Amino acid sequence: MNQTRYVGRSLPRLDAAAKVTGEALFPGDLSMPDMAHMKVLFAHRPHARILRIDTSQAEALPGVLAVLTAKDVPVNSYGIAEFDQPVLCGEVVRFVGDRVALVVAETPEIARQACDLIEVEYEDLPVITGPEEALAPDAPLLHPEKGSNVLATFHVRKGDIEEGFAQADVIVEETYTMGMQEHAYLQPDAGLAWVDEDGYLVVKTGGQWAHDDRRQIAHSLDLPEDRIRVIYTYVGGAFGGREDVTVQVILALAAWKLRRPVKIVWSREETTIGHHKRHPMRIRHRWGATREGRIVAQETEILADAGAYASTSSYVVASTVLLSTGPYEVPNLWLDARAVYTNNIPCGAFRGFGVPQAMFAAEAHMARLADALGMDPVELRMRNGLEENSLTGTMAEIPPGLSVRETLEAAARRMGWELVDGEWRRPQIRREVRPGVVRGIGIASGWKNVGYTLGYPEQATVTVELHGEAEVERGVVRLATSEVGQGTHTTIAQMAAEALKLPLERIEIVYTDTAQTHSAGSVSASRMAFMAGNALLGAAREAYKAWDDEDRPAVATYTYRTPPTEPLDPETGHGKGAFAFAYLAQAVEVEVDTETGKVEVKRIVAAHDVGKAINPEIVEGQIEGGAIQALGWATLENFVMQDGEVLTPDLSTYLIPTVLDIPPDFETLILENPLPLGPWGATGVGEMGFLSIAPAIIDAVHDATGVWFNAIPLTPEKVLDRLKGEH
Ligand code: MOS
Repeated sequence: MNQTRYVGRSLPRLDAAAKVTGEALFPGDLSMPDMAHMKVLFAHRPHARILRIDTSQAEALPGVLAVLTAKDVPVNSYGIAEFDQPVLCGEVVRFVGDRVALVVAETPEIARQACDLIEVEYEDLPVITGPEEALAPDAPLLHPEKGSNVLATFHVRKGDIEEGFAQADVIVEETYTMGMQEHAYLQPDAGLAWVDEDGYLVVKTGGQWAHDDRRQIAHSLDLPEDRIRVIYTYVGGAFGGREDVTVQVILALAAWKLRRPVKIVWSREETTIGHHKRHPMRIRHRWGATREGRIVAQETEILADAGAYASTSSYVVASTVLLSTGPYEVPNLWLDARAVYTNNIPCGAFRGFGVPQAMFAAEAHMARLADALGMDPVELRMRNGLEENSLTGTMAEIPPGLSVRETLEAAARRMGWELVDGEWRRPQIRREVRPGVVRGIGIASGWKNVGYTLGYPEQATVTVELHGEAEVERGVVRLATSEVGQGTHTTIAQMAAEALKLPLERIEIVYTDTAQTHSAGSVSASRMAFMAGNALLGAAREAYKAWDDEDRPAVATYTYRTPPTEPLDPETGHGKGAFAFAYLAQAVEVEVDTETGKVEVKRIVAAHDVGKAINPEIVEGQIEGGAIQALGWATLENFVMQDGEVLTPDLSTYLIPTVLDIPPDFETLILENPLPLGPWGATGVGEMGFLSIAPAIIDAVHDATGVWFNAIPLTPEKVLDRLKGEH
């Protein structure tokens, strides 16, 4: 009975052939007869009052169909967590990517020319360039109605912090900083919208949650949701960067006004300023431990740059808070966190959703603490790892599925750590690779919640149809999930075949079309395989019941809901923030060129407890992809905003890893301790590969050079400066 036919097998990706032959259509490939083309006039200034907009010259240009401004938007606001962002700015612009006008024309060229003919008179306002500036007493308020530039505040109080530090033999205090990160998904934002023959507004594009795009479009256009249909095509990457809408609302607006199909394709530069980023954060940790290596106190202060609008910042920073201790038992905790508005690009979801920042600081700090104690960092982690009866930093019980020590041991052993006289020891390696190049190894643990947290309703709805007469001949599954390149459609097809007890080729799956599916939530938060699998199992069970009752076809719609979570208490931070966690440990070997400052990662060992690998190759792909993206964040990717302007708007100024930056030696160790809540025991994997590479690199660079770094990215000039002792 426990034999599975599809689950656990590395079936080839179902989308592979279409993608390599070019048959797969991405949003930029779409076209319709008689379609018009749209161009956005962006503000290109970080903070200004709009005094006057004159569109007359643009409108007079032959081939221009319409120029839309704030007055043309029925409800001029949108946003994923709050409707706080103007669809088109009429009074004030708050960052370079704010939109001022839309031009729709017969050709993209005419639309572009017309944009240049729009006259906008601005009065520049003082620019808030970073969170410290935003908090200054005389700082201008970016959203005066909020009364402050602070978007979100969190406090966590556990135990007695004074008492905790009083027990400490060693106290280490450091401040860690992380830069902004661009998703750099391959496919620039694009889409096509039209009004169909029945009067429905259709928007075809790529994203992470079609039903939420529909909700935002409905709000801004003041239309009922059931007048709007959002369909996703193939999507060229997302990584959290398509959680917020980009072109959806403006496309819908233009098509609705003009009653003509309207297409838009953003350039790389437009995509870069047009969508949110990973939050830069500054995290100050002051931790105390006893000589025996027991953590007794943690004091933490988190400051995040939210950028100009709310996006998902309050949830992202709450996640940083929730995971901020690392996977350790911390008896006494005092934490304050803030996300603040600035005139930078809004920051929001990006693979890991605030947890990479938490892991970078906590795990780099564990390495520092181990060093101060004269203790091996694996040994220190083993002594403090969460136990089944531990309480998290927010005073929540640990859900079943704990494997902090198993993952750490797997990664550590593989990288050469050994138990000597009952204590873990880092392997002794030869430092000098060749003159001027030294190497070192490092390790870090990680944990992250699966699915939405902090009380956000978590559910996925799936419909299953069983067709046939005497026996089930074929199945239809309606499940709204976006394939953003991660392999979710293959994973879901395997789970569907297993749940419906049918051969894969006899199941048709209708994916993201809001007219044909219910919402299954977003493809994010490492949640979709977990949520969809559970929903499929429930829907299949119900459909077979209907089949037994002679329904033909037998149809069941089923909603899977996770155990509830709670928001953190505003005063104490206490609360059950998550229903499940996943655990991992990652070890790296680096080479540091002491002449050029270049840090190269030569080897990665990633040990992940995934509960059950539904498709092991896809799981490996996710872990490898996440790790390489983190390698970029840690060593290469330097998104520069200066005085509110983007200095790195394209991929020749913003460098991301290429195949040549991938370590030749990359080993993924998949552990499968079944998660009791998970479908077939599976937990989430989408974000986990990202989490611990950066702090492992910090540990390894110290091992190689004897120098600690607290800030990423470790660009060559910064590394060289510190190695030469200039800072
Ligand atoms: Mo994600 S950062 O939960 O899309």
